[in-house]
Amino acid sequence: MVDEVEEKVGPAVLLAALRLQLDWGVDEALIEAPLDRRVSAAARPAAIPAVSAARTAPASNMGAAVAAPPVATAPVPLIRPVPPAQARAEALAAAATSLDSLRAAMAGFDGSLLRETATQLVFADGVAASGLMFIGEAPGADEDRQGKPFVGASGQLLDRMLATIGLNRGENFYITNILPFRPPGNRTPTDAEIALFLPFIRRHIALVRPRLLVLLGGTSAKALLSAREGITRLRGRYHQVTIENISSIATLATLHPAYLLRNPAAKREAWQDLLTLQRKIADG
Ligand code: URA
Repeated sequence: MVDEVEEKVGPAVLLAALRLQLDWGVDEALIEAPLDRRVSAAARPAAIPAVSAARTAPASNMGAAVAAPPVATAPVPLIRPVPPAQARAEALAAAATSLDSLRAAMAGFDGSLLRETATQLVFADGVAASGLMFIGEAPGADEDRQGKPFVGASGQLLDRMLATIGLNRGENFYITNILPFRPPGNRTPTDAEIALFLPFIRRHIALVRPRLLVLLGGTSAKALLSAREGITRLRGRYHQVTIENISSIATLATLHPAYLLRNPAAKREAWQDLLTLQRKIADG
């Protein structure tokens, strides 16, 4: 059927339709063959005849002289059993002894479907030894294409804002995200996804050992401060984050630049936060 459609509309239209589905968050094939929903259900061929026949067989025709319903064979598992993804994430993160080995461990981690829908891992950018580390939420479409965090519209706004207090990623800060893979359609990461990747970002912080952390937006603040309050309550002040062997890191929470693009009036609060950061840097 795909061949027939391709003949009629051409590959470009099919590719555009596929990309649209990915943007809408369709990230899993549930059945082997395409299902033509324009045809009524009755007219469609049964998807898996043996199993569907067994499931729809009447429950009570006891004693009737009819042939026994077909016995459904045991379903073949579609997913191989693997050790729980969370335990593997923790073990892989703990075993990483350098940023390069952490990057390799994260690229090879197959415990999340996000890895299948993303183009590539988005690890980090900037100067790891700068002492200042920014952590955002997750890569967007531009970051997914380029393999670097904060290179799209919100990243460009962030760079412009930070430049006003003398910060640039080529020289004096390092930047990464809670999730290293783009969620389809830029949807907000789920709590389960954040929990799954938390060992990696905590190890990332432990290896960078920043003097100061800046959390960009609610997802990042919620994940690393284990806080219940929203970002509007958490922002603008210092919190303490304790990671493994590092006693405690001064951590400023602030608004996400993507939020500032949607709500330009909030730039006023973001500017106050920048000044709070600048003072801390100046205090040494
Ligand atoms: N938003 C984020 O949180 N991170 C990026 O890398 C880009 C946009």
